[in-house]
Order: sequence, then structure tokens, then C-alpha cells
Amino acid sequence: MTSIEDTARFRDAMFSYAPTPLKVLVRGEGARVWDADGVEYLDFLAGIAVNSLGHAHPVFVEAVTRQASTIAHVSNYFASQPQLELAERLKRLTGGDRVFFCNSGTEAIEAAIKVARRTGRPRILALEKSFHGRSTGALAITGKAAYREPFEPLLPGPEFLPTTVEALEAAMDDDVAALVLEPIKGEAGVLDLPDGYLRAARELTTRHGALLILDEIQTGAGRTGDWFAFQHDGIVPDLVALAKGIGGGFPIGALVAFGAAGDLLKPGDHGTTFGGNPLATATSNAVLGEIERTGLVGNARAMGELIRGGVLALANPAVTDVSGRGLLVGIGLAGPWAGAVATRALELGLIINAAAEDRIRLAPPLTIDTAHVDRFLSLFSQALTATVPAATEGPTR
Ligand SMILES: Cc1ncc(COP(=O)(O)O)c(C=O)c1O
Repeated sequence: MTSIEDTARFRDAMFSYAPTPLKVLVRGEGARVWDADGVEYLDFLAGIAVNSLGHAHPVFVEAVTRQASTIAHVSNYFASQPQLELAERLKRLTGGDRVFFCNSGTEAIEAAIKVARRTGRPRILALEKSFHGRSTGALAITGKAAYREPFEPLLPGPEFLPTTVEALEAAMDDDVAALVLEPIKGEAGVLDLPDGYLRAARELTTRHGALLILDEIQTGAGRTGDWFAFQHDGIVPDLVALAKGIGGGFPIGALVAFGAAGDLLKPGDHGTTFGGNPLATATSNAVLGEIERTGLVGNARAMGELIRGGVLALANPAVTDVSGRGLLVGIGLAGPWAGAVATRALELGLIINAAAEDRIRLAPPLTIDTAHVDRFLSLFSQALTATVPAATEGPTR
């Protein structure tokens, strides 16, 4: 399979998910992947914040293999040890009280919306530029209009607020079931919340008896240099939606409930065949256990600082800012050049992502070291200088 013919083959065989597969990736090891032509890439996207331990990590491989050869799936008519262990682990790491398992981020959000509906209140508040997933419930609370509007009418009720404390104060009342937000808006280009916003959100939702639902699908599992981004602000949410990095490459989602929020759905109110199956939960247990054992949360913090400092030290006038925390990094550009920079980077052997037309997103494995950071800085700098001189005369795409 070469990378050029595949484009047509993919288009012929798939719909919706058949963009232009630029490269066919066939193998990975740590923070490196190889395409079908044997070309090596430094992977600073990790399957969009998924491969926490990098590719083909022995702990991941061993967990999948061992569980698959023991018992993979049992349905929710039966209990399993890995499921219970993961629920207890997530309780310990988040400080939450009870866990619902599902298979993806959008499903974790879907579950959270159902919990919010059970409050009996009509209003759900979400933020402009937010992203919560593609199922019709999650899409209804996604602020990115381009994703949402083609599928309207969707779930009635969601309102999208500018990300200011003033807007939240003005919108909050006792009809609000929930406020849903990402602690860092990943899909929007790694946009930080204003200082103090999360604490104000907690204070206002508590005052009005509304749920605070945090979407930590992208920010969770150590990525931001805390186990979960909300811990940075010292608040306690009502619900936290998780997926991506907790599975390290194995599909899994979870909704963690704190206190009374865990009582709103009654047995039978919600469920999914695969949710929390032994294969997914054993793998997630192993991934989170390894993150814990090897101190990767601290590593994410340290490597993130190194990356941000290094990018700013390039002193390239095309770079306007760096954002995010830990290993969820945003790089702002002075023009709509992110697509061109990401394309050039790929040609140079570096995988990064244009999350917005003027913002690059990095989400490398939590296992990266200083040598990876140096290599990234060198390749990124080359991609910038190769792209932006032309781009300064006008948009490149
Ligand atoms: C913040 C956030 N929420 C929800 C989702 C949806 O998760 P999934 O793609 O697993 O359904 C994503 C995926 O990118 C995300 O980044």
C-alpha cells in the first residue's frame, strides 16, 4: 500500500471518514511512527491525545494480550475484576464517587447530558468554540457552529456563552441544569480559560444548584501536568467526562460522578453493551498504572514547559503565543498558516495538527524526553521558516 493510491481506495471504501489520508501509518514505537514507504515520523499528536504511553508500549501490549487471552467481554449482566479495579482507580485519581463506563468521548458526554436531564431543569449552558463530540446530543452542546448547524434541529435547550465570568453570571439562574465546559478548549486550538473562570463557574453553579460538567476527554489522564485539569484550580466538579488518553489507544470512555450527581440516573436509565468490558478496562488500568508508576504526570509538566520555552525562544515573528498546560500545547500564529505549517512539518517527518487556521496543536505521548523535544523544536522551526516567509505575503491556503 503506497500513500498515493490509497487515497482513491479509501474514498471508494469509506464514507464520512475518508478525507485525504496523507500517509498510511503501519507501525509505531514510542513517539515514532513509520508509514507504508518506511518513512519515520516524530509523533507529536499521539492520535489526538490518545496514545499516552506512545506506540506499542510493552505495558499496553501485555495488558491487551493477557486480557484478550483470558476474557475479553462479558456484558453488563456480569461483573468483572478489571472493571471494578478501574472504577476504584478513577475514583482515587479524580476524588469522585462513582463511575459509568462507555466507549468514547462523545458517549461520556451523552451520559452527562442524560444526567443533566434528570435534574428536571430545562437549560444547559455551554461555551462558544467548545467541542464535545459528534453524536447528536454532544453535538447539540458543541459551540463550533460548522459541526453543529448542518444537523439542527438537535436537542433543545443548549445556550452558548462567551467565555467570560460576566456572561456566566448573566446567564445563570435556577432553571440551569448544567454548565458544560472543557478546562482547555482543545479542538478550538488549545484555548485556555481566563484566570479564575473555573472557580467562578464552580461558585455560580453551586449557588444556583446546577451541575458543573467538565469535559476532560482531551485534558485528562495526566496530559496537562495534573491527573485532571480541574485539579490545577482546586475545585470539585459534579461530573467529569473522560476518554482518549485513559485507554492509551484502546477505545474507552467514562463519566465520573461526584456526590449526589451519581444518584440522578437510576439503574436501567442508561447503558451500553461494550461499556467497561474487561478488555478495555484492563488496558486502561495498565495504562494509568504505568503513568502513575513512572511519574509521567510530572514529566508532562516538565516537557510541556520545555516545549513552550523552546518555541518562544525560536523568536520567530510568526509565533504570537503558546497556550495550554503540560503536553497539551497550542502555538498561535500571526496568520492563517497552521495548515501549511503542519503539512510542511509532515514532509519533514513531524506530526503536528492545525487545530484552527492560526493555531497549531501538540499532544505528544506523555513518555517523551528532552531528546524528543529538541528534535521537535528543530523540525518545527524548519517547518515554520519554510512556510511562513511565503505566507507573510498572504494566506497559503
Ligand atoms: C474535548 C473533547 N470532547 C469530546 C470529544 C469526542 O470524543 P470522541 O471522539 O472519543 O467521541 C473530543 C474528541 O476530540 C474532545 O476533544
